Amino acid sequence: MSLISLYKQSLEKVNEPKAIGRVTQVIGLTLEVVCPDLFIGEICHIELTTQDRYVVAEVVGLKKETAILMPFEKAVGITLGSKVVPQGRSAQAKVGQAFLGRVVNAFGEPIDDKGPIAPYDLAPIHKPAINPLSRAPVDTQFSTGLKVVDACLPIGQGQRVGLFAGSGVGKSSLLSGICKYNLDQQKVNIIVLVGERGREVAEFVHETLGPDGLKHSVVIVATAEEPALIRAHAVYTAMAMAEFFSHQQRNVFLSIDSMTRFAFALREIGLAVGEPPTVKGYTSSVFSILPSIVERCGNFQNRGAITALLSVLVEGDDLNDPVVDSLRAILDGHVVLDRALAEKNHYPAVSVLKSVSRMFNRLTTAEQKSDVKSLRHVLSLYDDNKMILELGMLESSQSHIEQIKSDYQVACGFLQQDLGTYVSSADAKLSLNKLKFGGASNG
Ligand SMILES: Nc1ncnc2c1ncn2[C@@H]1O[C@H](COP(=O)(O)OP(=O)(O)O)[C@@H](O)[C@H]1O
Ligand SMILES: [Mg+2]
Repeated sequence: MSLISLYKQSLEKVNEPKAIGRVTQVIGLTLEVVCPDLFIGEICHIELTTQDRYVVAEVVGLKKETAILMPFEKAVGITLGSKVVPQGRSAQAKVGQAFLGRVVNAFGEPIDDKGPIAPYDLAPIHKPAINPLSRAPVDTQFSTGLKVVDACLPIGQGQRVGLFAGSGVGKSSLLSGICKYNLDQQKVNIIVLVGERGREVAEFVHETLGPDGLKHSVVIVATAEEPALIRAHAVYTAMAMAEFFSHQQRNVFLSIDSMTRFAFALREIGLAVGEPPTVKGYTSSVFSILPSIVERCGNFQNRGAITALLSVLVEGDDLNDPVVDSLRAILDGHVVLDRALAEKNHYPAVSVLKSVSRMFNRLTTAEQKSDVKSLRHVLSLYDDNKMILELGMLESSQSHIEQIKSDYQVACGFLQQDLGTYVSSADAKLSLNKLKFGGASNG
């Protein structure tokens, strides 16, 4: 056979459509399909016999003779024997500059009545791991505009930080505050809202974030009533969007609100596929996917940094929650919001004592370290004597207790900040330095 005909033959093979399959079972949220050569993550179209359209589904499991598919919408209209047309590719996300200022669903389709979004590129949503040697060290501070964070718990450009809190303690308000002020013209915010109620989403976009915040942001939404696969996809789409801007040399601030609800979606998918449940019903794939998302953020050579603030729901002091535990281990720091502070109208309700930044030593000067140490000392003295102070068991002779109280009030004056106000990190450090505790200057 001549070389030309061999070449032609191989070309034909490439263009040959993959073999068509059939649906053989529908169980709960999954479809069993007989179709040769499917791969995990492959997108298939399921043709509906009664309507002139198809349902998009993803291959989520492979058994001996069958594949398990999960449709992106309700399986209404799918019958036994429905035709399965494999697409030979995994899911892609729409990405591009035109998405700035827009609110989209998990597929990058606009949901904000501002018309179609164009032009766009298509990017694969699953990526191989990043070569560790292409990472750059975290050595520049990422300015959040919040005094308590910038002065006491500095976040580095490219750092991955958890925002641990219960519901209604101020996570969304804090995230949006950081998105609003854009002094770094290179900065782009990618905000993904997973598993919230529709009302909360509208409130977040229109009121909490507002037009100023939205201008430099892409908001990706998958509400609670959407199927688990779509809720998980919203996060993958956000990752692809963040990587697109990072490759455009923009510094990205990625907020995932919340990682817990993303983990819930992954658990639902894992259980539907038949993975054995472990603690609290989470399947083992959850704990391999969470780090893979975190690892796609960071500081890189030759492209913009992806700084991530990932919210994690912690109800009560449930430290045994496996998602909380696993994220605490893989993140480079955590900011903890305390309900007791929020109840006292102390906002942002950041607990300095419970929060940790693993970059603290690298990002602070000796002077700042000593200022933060004094502040922490005041806060922990207050904590130690909380019962006496808050229950009014104070006697006038206990002047050192009075001193603890007044120092604490000075600290709170610095730590609290009105919603929607911005303080530069230089000013935050300066005002921390100027605090006067126990009659002696901190500086
Ligand atoms: N910095 C703040 N200043 C004043 N009030 C705040 C602040 N942050 C949160 N709140 C109050 O707490 C409520 C819940 O905040 P939100 O950010 O929606 O919490 P979460 O996202 O944790 O559920 C807000 O509606 C607001 O009343
Ligand atoms: Mg919220």
